[in-house]
Amino acid sequence: MWNKVTVNPVVIMPYYPDTLEVYLKKKDRDTDELITLCHQLALGVEHMHKCRVKHRDIKLQNIMVDKDGKPKFMDFGESTIK
Ligand SMILES: Nc1ncnc2c1ncn2[C@@H]1O[C@H](COP(=O)(O)OP(=O)(O)OP(=O)(O)O)[C@@H](O)[C@H]1O
Ligand SMILES: [Mg+2]
Repeated sequence: MWNKVTVNPVVIMPYYPDTLEVYLKKKDRDTDELITLCHQLALGVEHMHKCRVKHRDIKLQNIMVDKDGKPKFMDFGESTIK
């Protein structure tokens, strides 16, 4: 009985207050902040590609923003590695 254990994998991550979609709608962001956001997103994509990961579902709802305004790619459900 005890030698059969079902393991359900879980991902533990910090709580992020907003998706990028909500974050951008909350208020007007100044140009410098938007340029920084785009730069950070580009660095994130570059890093994924260096790790041979294709996200394949990049959209505003799949990017969270932390309390310091830094974007975080998430939802790798459609991603591939090759
Ligand atoms: N770490 C987190 N902190 C806060 N909210 C989160 C976090 N992870 C997920 N969420 C919320 O859950 C939503 C869905 O997450 P995710 O995109 O990973 O799942 P999904 O099943 O693919 O949903 P969808 O089909 O809407 O993309 C996010 O848009 C976000 O609102
Ligand atoms: Mg999603």
